[in-house]
Amino acid sequence: MCGIVGFNGHQQAAPILLQGLTKLEYRGYDSAGLCVRDGSEPAVIIKAKGRLSVLKEKTNDGLSVHGDCGIGHTRWATHGEPSETNAHPHCSDDGNVIGVHNGIIENYQELKEKLLRNGYTFYSETDTEIAIKLIDYYYKKYLHTPVDAINHALVRIRGSYALELMFKDYPGEIYVARKDSPMILGIANGESYIASDVPAILKYTRTVYYIGNQQLARVGKGEITFYNLDGDEIEIEPKTVEWDAAAAEKGGYEHFMMKEIHEQPKAVQDTLHSVEHDGVIDLSGIGITDEQIQKLRQIYIVACGSAYHVGVAAQYVLEDLAGIPVRVELASEFRYRHLPFSENASEDSLVIIISQSGETADSLAALRKAHEKGLPTLGVVNVVGSSIAREADHVFYTLAGPEIAVATTKAYSAQLVALYTIAIQFGKVRGLISDEDYTKYIADLEALPAKIEKVLEDESRIQWFAAKQSNAHDVFFIGRGIDYAISLEGSLKLKEISYVHSEAYAAGELKHGTISLIEDGTLVISVLTQPRLIEKTTSNMVEVRSRGAYLMGLTTYGNYDVEDLADFTTYVPATDPHFAASVAVIPLQLLAYYFAVSRGLDVDKPRNLAKSVTVE
Ligand code: AGP
Repeated sequence: MCGIVGFNGHQQAAPILLQGLTKLEYRGYDSAGLCVRDGSEPAVIIKAKGRLSVLKEKTNDGLSVHGDCGIGHTRWATHGEPSETNAHPHCSDDGNVIGVHNGIIENYQELKEKLLRNGYTFYSETDTEIAIKLIDYYYKKYLHTPVDAINHALVRIRGSYALELMFKDYPGEIYVARKDSPMILGIANGESYIASDVPAILKYTRTVYYIGNQQLARVGKGEITFYNLDGDEIEIEPKTVEWDAAAAEKGGYEHFMMKEIHEQPKAVQDTLHSVEHDGVIDLSGIGITDEQIQKLRQIYIVACGSAYHVGVAAQYVLEDLAGIPVRVELASEFRYRHLPFSENASEDSLVIIISQSGETADSLAALRKAHEKGLPTLGVVNVVGSSIAREADHVFYTLAGPEIAVATTKAYSAQLVALYTIAIQFGKVRGLISDEDYTKYIADLEALPAKIEKVLEDESRIQWFAAKQSNAHDVFFIGRGIDYAISLEGSLKLKEISYVHSEAYAAGELKHGTISLIEDGTLVISVLTQPRLIEKTTSNMVEVRSRGAYLMGLTTYGNYDVEDLADFTTYVPATDPHFAASVAVIPLQLLAYYFAVSRGLDVDKPRNLAKSVTVE
């Protein structure tokens, strides 16, 4: 996510802004910028691509920028490549409104068209520039006051925002507005502070105001006035921050992994809404035409690790909904195989490369091999401007935000929903999905964030079970179909952060050898979310139980018979079976997390692992 800071007081603002942005670097970014104003002098905007050190160098650590009122920003690119032009702050062409933004303007296209019709032009690829110019438009159209202009704009904007704004006609003031993206305000010694997150202002004050959704504020020097969307003044009580600096970076969570597990509802919602508006999926942004979709006869999904597990789940969904054969390949294998591609591969095949980092060496090599063979490629990537994003023919950006923990969680969930939208839209275009089913599937996707939230509410049961089982030596995950894909991810999560050996098995495959490993007390986790396969998996549970296994059942509410067989059962809300991985993976992420915590391990940075494997 982007980071925003602001200062309005009696000291030089730029050094304070840079210090605040430094405290927000952990949020991940690719460019930075600030805007400072000295009294009624014109505002100065300075931006830089790359690390914060570049901006610090440009401004001599802020000392060469004069003024006691300013805003700052670190950008995590979502719309538009990382570049100085796309870096924030953005401003209206006459400098009337200048601002920075953390969030996603979902309806930026329609707002841009409105502004173009009203004579506006655009210098960047960002949704933020559109928001700033929309505020400028309303400022000039109506009362020429900041609160009124902001309110008019916020009524039109759909999406999330933490906005900081400066107006030419209002020197010495900063205006802010918030919806869904984090923002806090603070006051100390007659000066005011603004930030995305506590760490950026903890050095100056522990008295903060958590501005609410769709609320605004005028930030003066040591005094803040809050408003609602109607422009009426409202009161907000100050709070005292108890966290220490380290805890503050993790939003109060003990580890980034747990913070990111809890960010999954938003990651899923933001990714879904990047292509779905008002019940319609629009993939035009990734540039694959309906004609191409109709011609498809083979899809290859190529990835590593958890991204590969997304592919295994997506295989079932794409084959069911879009009627296209799918092969899921490990990138490290695909890159060296002599696969016999069809002679019309450039027309009837598509290679989907899934990668959070967009830099995984094996996945990048697989992408290049696909191009050598003339196959079109689609990258499903979480990092804008990454190598895979730049080299793929088409790109679908997941909007999970920066993922800090080595063990992926929110990016995995965002990738799943990206693939669901592709499967649904491909099926619709190929005439395999009725309007009624299309509507139903999209409603199911819209309901996923709330279902994930519900599972997270039940976290303590998983924590209790993990503490009881954390001395296990061998753990088996079993399932059929999508439940097998879920098992793969659950097993990897457990292995990579708790160092406990585990294996995921297609439940029907156990009897072909591995069942010989089941002994008294062996923990077997059985995943049962697929109605038409539950009976089969249940019989596999009987098989392992008769050999002494200690059984955990993971199933959907309503399948209460599982309790007759399992020693411990955890339930998740039912969803369309195609999308069950999005909900059922959550207890397994939590299980792995609490195994690792019980074993006193470094959850965020497990041994021998890197967040992005950029070497073979
Ligand atoms: C998942 O928890 C692991 N960190 C790892 O398997 C990861 O999914 C894999 O290395 C692929 O990374 P990518 O998505 O950045 O390509």
